[in-house]
This record gives sequence, structure tokens and C-alpha cells, in this order.
Amino acid sequence: MRLTILRLLAPAKLNLYLRIVGRRSDGYHELETLFERIDLADELTFAPHDRLHLTCDDPALDCGPDNLVLKAARLLQQAAGCRQGASLHLIKRIPVAAGLGGGSSDAASTLIGLNALWRLGLRHEQLLALAATLGSDAAFFLGGRAFAIGRGRGERCEELDGALPTLWHVVVVPPERLATAEVYEGFDAQGGGLTGRVPSIRIAVHALCNGSVHELATGLHNDLGPEAIRRCPVMQEIHTLLRESRSVGTLVSGSGSAVFGIYQSPSHAQQAAVQLRGRCPASWRIAVTATAHAPVTPIQDNQPRT
Ligand code: C5P
Repeated sequence: MRLTILRLLAPAKLNLYLRIVGRRSDGYHELETLFERIDLADELTFAPHDRLHLTCDDPALDCGPDNLVLKAARLLQQAAGCRQGASLHLIKRIPVAAGLGGGSSDAASTLIGLNALWRLGLRHEQLLALAATLGSDAAFFLGGRAFAIGRGRGERCEELDGALPTLWHVVVVPPERLATAEVYEGFDAQGGGLTGRVPSIRIAVHALCNGSVHELATGLHNDLGPEAIRRCPVMQEIHTLLRESRSVGTLVSGSGSAVFGIYQSPSHAQQAAVQLRGRCPASWRIAVTATAHAPVTPIQDNQPRT
């Protein structure tokens, strides 16, 4: 007997720009952000099962009911009035609590994967509404394009069309992790930084449309960067090391603790990664990544039942 198994990637994101434009009564912050989907990705497999069951290759990851994969699966069951189950397996490659959107991406890929496995036929707009309740970044990962401007909590996405470039980065993640909510709270407690001079998001968007990484470097900005570095000072050292490795620009992603550099070419990024691996503690994750242009798509993988 053969069993239908679906396999999907759940890519990470970088924020090339993040500005906090206001605070909301629900405790969230109003954002203007520029997302980029990258090819550092978790992997999820879905197989039919009589109930929902999640396993993960990383024993440190909690596979209980609070895991965003299971939350997404239950939400989809409820929304579609579906009683089917699934056996889910997660291969975790995106560092957690690093500002790379791994949890939100896992949730988004779960919605896409189970909508296909259970043949529910929910439309993109319906999945978007569910994603927004799972995480502020989840809606972005449902999109078809690699770059999008996020507004609201980050969940109202305007995709960038046209032939946009492939960017090359080195992403560095120290072992320290930062809780998103605490970085936002710290940002508020430090006065919010709402008055400082900040480049317009249009600089980065214009640079992408022109394929100019040097122009992009002048538009990189993250309001949460200073607070993330205040909580995790080693991130400042990472900035310095990335600058010394001939990056054209460096930035904290989201609420950290990941810091990335952008490079002119894949070979510049590879050389920088080699140099950084020689200079950084072994506990730091150092990955060469590129823009992931392909949207998340389920791949059918028929395996003999074991
Ligand atoms: O939506 P998500 O679960 O990623 O957000 C985690 C936490 O980060 C929220 O509970 C909130 O404290 C903070 N946050 C925020 N404003 C946003 C996004 C997140 O204050 N736009």
C-alpha cells in the first residue's frame, strides 16, 4: 500500500527595512517593513493519520500543542470543519528566536500543506486570514513573491512585482536568543525612537527595482536594531565582523539576534563566510543565503508504507 506524503519547505525571512510607525491599543506595533524570503529553510512532511501528531529532528523543540505547526493545523481543521488528522515531521534548520521568522513560516507552510493533503480547497484569502492570527510574519510566507512591503502588524503585505535581483547574504546567529515581545517592550521603554531621522522605505524598494546593492545598503534600516543590540551586545561585534568582511551593508533582522551582511556576489559572500568561520566562536551559526524567488509549493512524495 502506498501512502501520499507531501513535502514542503518553510523558508526564513530577512527584514531589509523595519520602521515602527505607531503603537496600537492591542499591544502590537504598527510597522512598515520590507521582507525578503531567503533559501535558509525548515522542511515539513505531512502524511495522513487518524489524529494530529508532530515530531521534530531537534529534540530541544517543543512538539506540544503550543507549537505553531500544531496551532496552524488545528486552526485549519476548525476553519474547514475538517476531522482528518495528519502525521507531521519538522526538520528545523532556521534558528529559533533569531528574527528570521521560522515559527511563522512553519505555520504558513502547514496551512499550505494541509490544505493540499486534506483537499480542503481553501482560497488564498482564507489562508491569509488564518495566517494573520498565527504570527505577524505568517501572511508574508503565503505569498508568491520573494519581496514584499509589510504594513499593519506586518501581516498586510504588498508584494513587489517585476524582475527583482537575487541578493546574497551571510547570516550570523549567536547562541543568545531574543524574545520578540521583550525587544518591542524594550524599544518602548527606551523612548520608542519614534523621532529620529530614518531613511524612507522607498530607497530600499527603488534599489531592488534597479538591482543596485550599493543603493540598497543606503536604505537598510531597523528601528529594533539598537534595542536588540542593547540586550545582546555581541550583535555589535557581529556587525563589525561583517563590515570587515567586505559586505556592502549590515543589519539586524527583525527583533534579532540574527545579523546579516549583504554582498556583491555569491563568491564575495562565500569568501566572507570562510573568513568569519575562522574568526568567530564555533557556537555562532554562519550561513550563506540567497533570495528565494520560488513560492512555497507542496511536492508529492509517494513512499511505501513502513
Ligand atoms: O505576531 P508575533 O507572534 O510574531 O509577535 C510576537 C510579539 O511581538 C507580540 O506578542 C508583540 O508583543 C510583539 N509584536 C509587536 N508588534 C508587531 C509584531 C510583534 O508588538 N507588529
